Parts: sequence; C-alpha cells; structure tokens
Amino acid sequence: IVLPTKDEPRWAQDEQRFKDALKDSKYSTEILFSQGSSAKEKENVETLISKGIKVLIIAPHDGAAAGAAVEAAKKEGITVIAYDRLINETDAIDYYVTFDSIAVGEAQAQYLVDAYSGKKNVPLYLYAGGAFDNNAFLFFEGAWNVLQPKIADGTFVIANSSEAEALKDKAQLTRDELGKIINQVTTNWDPNEAKNKAQTHLTAVGKDLKGDVAILAPNDGTARAIADVFATDGDVTSYVVTGQDAEKASVQYILDGKQSMTVFKDVRTLVKDAMDMAVKVLNGETPETTGTYNNGKIDVKAKQTDVIVVNKENVKKELIDSGYYEASDFEGIE
Ligand code: BGC
Repeated sequence: IVLPTKDEPRWAQDEQRFKDALKDSKYSTEILFSQGSSAKEKENVETLISKGIKVLIIAPHDGAAAGAAVEAAKKEGITVIAYDRLINETDAIDYYVTFDSIAVGEAQAQYLVDAYSGKKNVPLYLYAGGAFDNNAFLFFEGAWNVLQPKIADGTFVIANSSEAEALKDKAQLTRDELGKIINQVTTNWDPNEAKNKAQTHLTAVGKDLKGDVAILAPNDGTARAIADVFATDGDVTSYVVTGQDAEKASVQYILDGKQSMTVFKDVRTLVKDAMDMAVKVLNGETPETTGTYNNGKIDVKAKQTDVIVVNKENVKKELIDSGYYEASDFEGIE
C-alpha cells in the first residue's frame, strides 16, 4: 500500500483505517508514504516489487507521474489498484476504488448556493486542490456544475479569479479550461499556500467584494487556513466556507462555527473496498465494480462510494453515533 503523504491528516486517517482492517488478516502488508514526491513514490513501489508483492494499492501523489511506477509493477504481473486518486495516461492499472469526487464538488457548491438562496451579488472566492491530483479536476468540475448557473443568474460574483470570470458563461468546461482556473486558484493542497493566496486576494479587492461572502475551499486543511484569514478581515461580515475529509480539527471548527461544512468520506468503506478487491484478486476471482473511469488511455473498472455532507446539525449523528470518532475527541459535543 502506497499513500501520498503522512503530513496530511486525510492520509493518516487512511493509514489508521488500513491498520485497523488488517489487524487480524492472514495477508502480510506494508504501508509506505511518498511524502509528496513522485521519485520517492517510484522508489516505494520498487521496494515493494522487490519484496514480491502480488497486489499494489496506490494513491498517487501525482496522477500522471505515477504511470512509470505502476508500469514497473505491471511488468512483474502485479495487480494495480488505484486508491482514491486515479492514475492518468497509462494502461498499467487494473482497478480504481474511489469516492464520488464529482459529488464532493457538487455538495460543496450546493452548500454555498443554499446558504445564499435568494441573495444577489454575493462575492464568491474560489480555491482548488493541486493540479497534479486528478481529483482536483473532479472536485472543481462538480462545483462548477452547481455554481455556474448561480453565477449566471447573479447570485454570486467571482471575486478572485479572472480565469473563472472569463469562462463564467460556459456550463461545461473542458479539462484545459478547468486547468486554467485550477492553476490560478490552486492551494496545491497546502494550507500555507491557501493562507497566502487568501491574504493576497483580500488585499486586492475593495469593500464591495467583502461583506457576506461564499468560499469554495477544496478540503479541510485548506478550509481552516482560508477561514482564519477571512475571520480576521474587518470588512468581511460573515463567510460560508466548504471543506472535505471530516478531519478532526475541522470537526472542531464546525462545532465552533468557524467552518461551515465538511464532506465526510468514510475511509473505512474505501479501505474495505480496496482490501476486498485485493483478496478477490489473490483468490483468482473477479472483483465487483460499479462503473468505469477514463484515465486518458483506458476505461478503468471502478468501485465508487457515496459521500455525506456534515455540518453543525448532523455532525453528532454522522461522525460520533456512527462510531467514526469519539465524542471525547471534541469540545462542545454531548
Ligand atoms: C483527496 C482528498 C484530500 C486531498 C489532499 C484528494 O485526492 O481525495 O480527500 O483532501 O487529496 O490530500
């Protein structure tokens, strides 16, 4: 199992859930982290190949650069399962287990739309994930599906992206067009970069683009960083900010009213799907899939899982009562 980085709580969650799932397993497994480096990722895969693995479960750091690593695995007859992030432009991938990433972006956008229904000219700040990650495209595509009509009808005005402004009349964007916006408002999945960008954006705009604002933040780590910047601007009266991953720190932010929502992706399900797939492969059976994803070269058989929108109202039900976290992990939850 190869994961992109230990430094983001999302992937530390996956590590923990893999460990939980593997506790009583008869299979030997190893989890390696690539620390945001495609070179390290390739090295990790080579290490595992030399240990004689039969199945590789990999969430790539960079979805295009990872092609070389999985091609090396494929050459040795190893079954490759892409985990959460697709690997692009290669035929050396057998399966893909993923959340519905388009639905993640749609849910984030819908939250902003619902929060400002009936309003006009609400400043909209757009932020995106890292363009090296195929998911950043899917999240933004989903968000655009829902936001674009609401930009067109005057509910929102784009505050921080000339590229989005130039494309605002197009309901469907090509990958290149998405890339233009993403490259302009990317956080590179880095909270520091998110913070710096938010500061730059707020410095650049006048009071007409402050007041009550909507912020599309791609995940929890970047959402907290961006929210902290908006919270300290005297001309921002209120903000609604999205997130995803249900990171513990963001659950606390939601309880404290500092982050509006998160998209909960139950990592237990993804881990179970990946492990079930691997075991089937090891037993010579064919894993069940629910559809396909085109990676630019082939249609990859995929198993997809739904996501859940969490805010202050349902946080206890979805995250505590479901056994995902303990109430004692947080302040202000009964
Ligand atoms: C994952 C998100 C995560 C992001 C940054 C994406 O590929 O789907 O859950 O927040 O990467 O690590």
